[in-house]
Amino acid sequence: MLPIPFLLLFLSSVLSPSSAADFCVADLSLPTTPAGFSCKKESTVTVSDFVFSGLSVTGNTSNILKAAVTPAFSSQFAGVNGLDISAARLDFAIGGVVPLHTHPAASEVFLVTQGTILAGFISSSNSVYYKTLHKGDLMVFPQGLLHFQVQRGGSPAVAFAAFSSTNPGLQIVSLALFGNSLPSPLVEKVTFLDDEEVKKLKKVLGGTG
Ligand SMILES: *[C@@H]1O[C@H](CO)[C@@H](O)[C@H](O)[C@H]1NC(C)=O
Repeated sequence: MLPIPFLLLFLSSVLSPSSAADFCVADLSLPTTPAGFSCKKESTVTVSDFVFSGLSVTGNTSNILKAAVTPAFSSQFAGVNGLDISAARLDFAIGGVVPLHTHPAASEVFLVTQGTILAGFISSSNSVYYKTLHKGDLMVFPQGLLHFQVQRGGSPAVAFAAFSSTNPGLQIVSLALFGNSLPSPLVEKVTFLDDEEVKKLKKVLGGTG
């Protein structure tokens, strides 16, 4: 049997939190990698790294979507780096929409805090799940599935989203189809849309070809 002091020393070395990192606050001075940012030296980490006030600001909805997304990902909120979690604020003017999109790397929970929003997603078997959400309602969008949010009613809406990744990724279907240089005949072939509609959408969404 070990004498008690040695036992305590042994236990403290096994249980010491310094043997594993509690967090990996992003070092924004170094480039990001697919695994996230490098960790800031713990001696330089402060409480400010774990607090982000950017979501208190109303986003600018003067754009084609009449909506704005303000992210709190690791580039903005260094403390979430490495924790598989992040957040965003969504502002919707009247008529605002976040068009059909996917976050390939994250599930999302979406909380309405103001106004009314019609939100939904489409499963990979093409079942559709959509509902009008009111203040206080929470909806989940499972990872990778196509989903959307549309403002309803006579007042602007605000929502907050939380993601199960520091880097959820974003692909908007309309931009993927009509906002790039994929030649129109090919877009028509792979979407079954006619030439007129494809050219019209490319013009609106900045596509060429
Ligand atoms: C919002 O964005 C529009 C279009 O980019 C710009 O003209 C306007 O000045 C912005 N408003 C504010 C308050 O930043």
